[in-house]
Amino acid sequence: MSKSFFLGANWKMYPPPEGALAPDSPYHDTPGAKVVVFPTSLHLLGCHKAGLVCGAQCARPEQSGAFTGDIGMAMLKAENIPYVLCGHSERRTYSEDTGKYHDETDQVIAAQVRTAVALNITPVVCIGETLDQRNAGKTEEVLGRQLETIDPPASAIIAYEPVWAIGTGMTPKPPEVVAAHAFIRSRLRDRAMYILYGGSMNPKNAAELLALDGVDGGLIGGASLKPKEFAVIVEAAKKAASK
Ligand code: PGA
Repeated sequence: MSKSFFLGANWKMYPPPEGALAPDSPYHDTPGAKVVVFPTSLHLLGCHKAGLVCGAQCARPEQSGAFTGDIGMAMLKAENIPYVLCGHSERRTYSEDTGKYHDETDQVIAAQVRTAVALNITPVVCIGETLDQRNAGKTEEVLGRQLETIDPPASAIIAYEPVWAIGTGMTPKPPEVVAAHAFIRSRLRDRAMYILYGGSMNPKNAAELLALDGVDGGLIGGASLKPKEFAVIVEAAKKAASK
């Protein structure tokens, strides 16, 4: 067997799916598929204590401070939380109308990644282009710029998540995924990292996506909230890992 595939279940602002904490749920780490759940900050410790391998959806680099509503990397470290998402596109964006999201820039994300690594927490660094950028032929330029500014170290995990594929049911064509992963790997030179695909991975497309060259796992949102669907993706990852 080659290395285990990495599957991140990004639960966003939803409670853990029913039965997720039970010993027989598909959200447990298992041979062939390194399963990590990303619950809300509120549910993080409960999931951790129930024996799920957990990551935070975000955390600040500062040790502590007047940052209402946020949590810090040092707090994750104190609770032995081993993973953190950095730079998910939903935290990068901003809407003036509703004030939703967090307007995180590559510089902010770089600081998160540096602090996580210094504390021995593995960052899952999300990068990806918008549809306008893809249509303008700028995918590699965007990915290259994000990687250059964030400068992820060898211990980081990269999640290639085209913004237009997240939560939309659309995915890039297989050769487009392969090309993006190859480009990312070339930019990381010989740093040995996991490169995940994220964006509308579901039970129907998981086997195909996970079998693609250079894809080492997935970051899954919507389908990770449905235990039966997620279980199918875990099986697809195990199968891909056994090849
Ligand atoms: P999705 O989300 O699987 O619902 O597209 C992926 C993500 O946000 O990481």
